[in-house]
Amino acid sequence: MGGAYFIGVRGQAVNQNWMRMRDFFRMRAHFGWLYAALSRLKCPNTPIVRTAAPLIDRVLHHLDQRTQRNSAKFDECFGTKTYGRLDVPVNGDRANPVIWGYSAINHDFFREIMRNIPASLSEYTFVDIGSGKGAAVLMASEYPFKHLVGVELNHELVDEARNNVQRFNERTGKEIAPEWSVGDFFQWGPPQSPCLFFFNNPFPEPLTLVAMQHLEKVLSEHPYRTLLVFRKAPKTCGDYLNHSTFWMPLRLAPYWRVYARTSAP
Ligand SMILES: C[S@@+](CC[C@H](N)C(=O)[O-])C[C@H]1O[C@@H](n2cnc3c(N)ncnc32)[C@H](O)[C@@H]1O
Repeated sequence: MGGAYFIGVRGQAVNQNWMRMRDFFRMRAHFGWLYAALSRLKCPNTPIVRTAAPLIDRVLHHLDQRTQRNSAKFDECFGTKTYGRLDVPVNGDRANPVIWGYSAINHDFFREIMRNIPASLSEYTFVDIGSGKGAAVLMASEYPFKHLVGVELNHELVDEARNNVQRFNERTGKEIAPEWSVGDFFQWGPPQSPCLFFFNNPFPEPLTLVAMQHLEKVLSEHPYRTLLVFRKAPKTCGDYLNHSTFWMPLRLAPYWRVYARTSAP
């Protein structure tokens, strides 16, 4: 583990503002730091920013387009079919479905996050909550995780994820064999071993906060080291995590955060 982990374990104050400033510039892939800075600049209502707004919008649009084009590259490279947006029902109620978007994580963003985790990954099982077509699980196979697990509500997406593993193995000559759990995260139990939970914006905002509270409850029966990676945490959930005594922040970049469980052995 890196220094930040030990700082928290010893109960010393971790200055989250300082951490946020430090981690802003860790978002190097696709000029993430510039994207975040310009997105924030759009908000203030000063004359100077109002004048520059069209230029800021153009730069943001250009950066977005560039990322979109780049996102298809993982599939081109590995023969998989993970790219594209889909609307999926996520509450199991056919009469009043809550729809949420599926889209795979960009490979460069995934690598950026993994590179910045101050822990040795080899003792952890990688668990993608809301694993969709399996992109993050496939990407995690580049790292020395003990096992790979995907939890996904939508069984058609899990079938696609299985096909993607086959294509990926054929293309790379690897023999990765992730475990897929088809069903609701809220009904699922974690492996009895150290886990890294990966949340890439899997739920609508109100459910995300409930999901974090649920995870803490489940983990209270689970006496193992745990890491939590959250990409694009909604504000309520991010604030909750930052104040929770269950989690200690290790990295606080604008678009992704890494926490370690405080009470694990
Ligand atoms: C944004 S996609 C993330 C895809 C994948 N993690 C990645 O990074 O490539 C969110 C996924 O979460 C799934 N999901 C939503 N609610 C869920 C739940 N309660 N249990 C399990 N999966 C869920 C959706 O079906 C969708 O595939």
